Amino acid sequence: MTVPTVDTKKRLLSGMKPTGNQGRLHLGNLEGALRPWVKLQDQYRMFCFIADWHALTTVTGVPESIAEASRNVALDYLSAGLDPERCAIFRQSDVPQHAELYLLLGMITPVSWLERVPTYKEHRDAMADYEGGGASGPSYGLLGYPVLQAADILMYRAHAVPVGKDQAAHLELSREIARRFNHLFEAEVFPVPDALISEDTGVLPGLDVDADNKLRKMSKSYNNAIFLSDTPDEVATKLKTAFTSPNKLRKTDPGEPEGCAVCQLRRIYDPDGFQAQWDECRSGARGCVQSKRETTDILNAMLDPFRERRARYASAPAELDRILARGAEEARAFADDTLRLVRETMRLV
Ligand code: TRP
Repeated sequence: MTVPTVDTKKRLLSGMKPTGNQGRLHLGNLEGALRPWVKLQDQYRMFCFIADWHALTTVTGVPESIAEASRNVALDYLSAGLDPERCAIFRQSDVPQHAELYLLLGMITPVSWLERVPTYKEHRDAMADYEGGGASGPSYGLLGYPVLQAADILMYRAHAVPVGKDQAAHLELSREIARRFNHLFEAEVFPVPDALISEDTGVLPGLDVDADNKLRKMSKSYNNAIFLSDTPDEVATKLKTAFTSPNKLRKTDPGEPEGCAVCQLRRIYDPDGFQAQWDECRSGARGCVQSKRETTDILNAMLDPFRERRARYASAPAELDRILARGAEEARAFADDTLRLVRETMRLV
């Protein structure tokens, strides 16, 4: 049997889907994923990829350019501080080996496991309500989404996967598939990957509220996000219309910082100073206009180093191509080892 690649460091894999708003990532992605990844890149051998095939699981027509969105995700990875010298950054579709492992894992994954996945059920139900397009039901690819995700992870025989809370169910399925493979073929091919779910900031609130005036999580699909690539003016404009305390019409009216988008961002990005601001907001000593202006400055100061790194890579497209090409090469080499092992284990060779 071929001896798989030997590493001294444990391996870690994670990725994001290049969807919505040209793939641009926001503060929720930063706190839930990017910052934890950057911290982990010394400790682990790290693979960070862009799940561009996954972006096709929900298309309903000609999509916006997935290639363009993928480049934006790569730029955001780099601007967040992922270091291409320490971490392989690549696109899923540049490593077609993922498709082979996806097919092979599909052979051992019960359909009943996939039909229970909450994101699948949500999409299926949303499609059923959708005039016309939903008539033929969800695609095979949508049902198989978690199998493809398991292939992404198990390909690198990853020991851990740092993801946001929303990915917990997908991770659980990857773990089940790894266990089932090892059990069926009586071989310890895949480590069962740990989910490293970041709990630091909790869910990052967006700029708006739901029908009950409760803050919603920041999400590109809600159109309530601050993007890493927003300009200082864009951040200022977004904060101007952000949700505050509905009953605080004048500066002297008492505010409710707990339920206010601006005060919550202040709490997260000004941990030492927010308490005084909250007290003044409650007592009516300060108004929302002042809070918004100050929070805009705090956010912009925090985002400046990200903007600088982004601008550096955005002005050197050939450099970005090289980074993605090198990342894909490293990934393919590792993937070939895994597939050799998997084919032997499944008695294909
Ligand atoms: N499903 C993930 C998301 O929506 C993207 C993803 C695909 C992923 N494959 C992965 C994340 C493997 C972690 C590991 O963000």
